Amino acid sequence: MSTKTSTTHNDINEVLSGANWWRQAAVYQIYPRSFSDSNGDGLGDIAGITAKVPYLKSLGIDAVWLSPFYPSALADGGYDVDDYRDVDPRLGSLADFDKMTAALRAAGIKLIVDIVPNHSSDRHEWFKEALASPKGSAARDRYIFRDGLGENGELPPSDWDSKFGGPAWERITEPDGTPGQWYLHLFAKEQPDFNWGNPEVREDFLKTLRFWSDRGVDGFRIDVAHALIKDLSEPMPSKAELPVEGTGIDGLVDGSHPFWDRDDVHEIYAEWRKVFNEYAPPRTAVAEAWVHAVRRGRYASPEGLGQAFNFDLLQADFDAGQFHSIITKNLAEAAATGAPSTWVFSNHDVIRHATRYGLPSDGGRHGQEWLLDGGSPSAVDVEVGLRRARAASLLMFALPGSAYLYQGEELGLQEVGDIPASDRQDPSFFRNPGVDIGRDGCRVPLPWTTEGLAFGFSDAAAHLPQPEWFSRYAVEAQDGTPGSTLELYREALRLRRSLQTEEQLKWLNHTDDSVLHFIRPNGWQSVTNFGTEPVDLPAGTVVISSSPLTDGKLPADTTAWII
Ligand code: NOJ
Repeated sequence: MSTKTSTTHNDINEVLSGANWWRQAAVYQIYPRSFSDSNGDGLGDIAGITAKVPYLKSLGIDAVWLSPFYPSALADGGYDVDDYRDVDPRLGSLADFDKMTAALRAAGIKLIVDIVPNHSSDRHEWFKEALASPKGSAARDRYIFRDGLGENGELPPSDWDSKFGGPAWERITEPDGTPGQWYLHLFAKEQPDFNWGNPEVREDFLKTLRFWSDRGVDGFRIDVAHALIKDLSEPMPSKAELPVEGTGIDGLVDGSHPFWDRDDVHEIYAEWRKVFNEYAPPRTAVAEAWVHAVRRGRYASPEGLGQAFNFDLLQADFDAGQFHSIITKNLAEAAATGAPSTWVFSNHDVIRHATRYGLPSDGGRHGQEWLLDGGSPSAVDVEVGLRRARAASLLMFALPGSAYLYQGEELGLQEVGDIPASDRQDPSFFRNPGVDIGRDGCRVPLPWTTEGLAFGFSDAAAHLPQPEWFSRYAVEAQDGTPGSTLELYREALRLRRSLQTEEQLKWLNHTDDSVLHFIRPNGWQSVTNFGTEPVDLPAGTVVISSSPLTDGKLPADTTAWII
């Protein structure tokens, strides 16, 4: 590990209170519209989060990452931002935001907010101005407008698909009413891509970063951080000619894709870093960059964003071999670059891991086939899924680096796979029929109480329907209940706080290949049994286990910590 950025002490409290707090943090993602509703409109809000700060403190997390809370038409769950420097009036006001920040700070919890720089919403002032302005105008140059192909420009500038299905170009009507130019949207058509070659765009995001930093925000999560720079030289390649996209350990390593992971994107983050470093402590950032593992380091460099999500475990099966190689590879990368690793199993874009692990042989495409088949709860082995999710999470908490949790996983909450089409909200469901069911199932509002119209989430019906079985996962049912998932998370996070260090792990051999066993330099050991039969535990005191031990042995799908 580079001496420049590493700390060698064992006191995580020192790391957490200083400028390096983010390096070993447990970060809890809040999807604000589905967390807690304070005003009875069925939509979670900022005051709802403030009211739950005692809950967050009792959970023992170090930071909250807040998904977008900005004014938005919700064409993509808030990732279509109308105004980057305001709060959606349905979620509250800037004053409410300040109150929430103060309450989190008083509880010793840091705050990370989501920044969405690749695209705005089509309701953003700048986009409205672009539509009202002529071709070639300065207003159009803030986005990516091109003439169409064909005799009358009736064909899109290229045949590229958007991520949510359907074409990546949308034709506009010019101010004089004639069919006009096309604009690029890598996501929904309500999310026009910015032109990052335009200095005004660059300046405006610096202003946004300062705006939230001045309000006391500690860090930023950067949405599709690898998409901002595009090579749109003409003729644009057809989709058949596009290089294979690179994520995880597959795909592109040379930055040659016209819109993903181009080298020049790092110039933007170098500028952002200067802004982050204007503050004391410096503001932090984490990149959402679905790039090849070898390309991740540049996003995570100290001259760039500092940290990048590693989605490798999230994409893996519950399998000792896969976990071993992913952990080894990522820790080697952390040692080489000095950027701490990140770990994550669930977020607002994927099927909850308690469900993924309960699907027969992962259900194909990480559960997408199950969703396409109707997402029936009866097709999920809920008990096995939850056991494995608890084991995986406990293993994650013992790893060096930051652990990112998604709201509800501390309850062992399952995905809602069978939301009726009429209630679905996600654009990927509407734009990609038969291919994508969308991500609404992990965004269903949390159950706080075992009864009530919205299980304590709201006085009104929740904006996405909650099934009856949510009752058994409610906070009320688990709070203070020995063995509950909530109490497991609380205890694990409490222990982690006293045990976590920057130092790496050492793998220890176990007689059984389906067991992963490692030790940290301070003697903290974690053992996970991915197999089917109980196995012997190493000597020492078991301080926590994700399921009860059986006759002193570690049962299947279980993790234990030993000191
Ligand atoms: C990644 C976000 O996590 C996802 O929810 C969103 O749809 C896309 N970026 C587009 O902003």
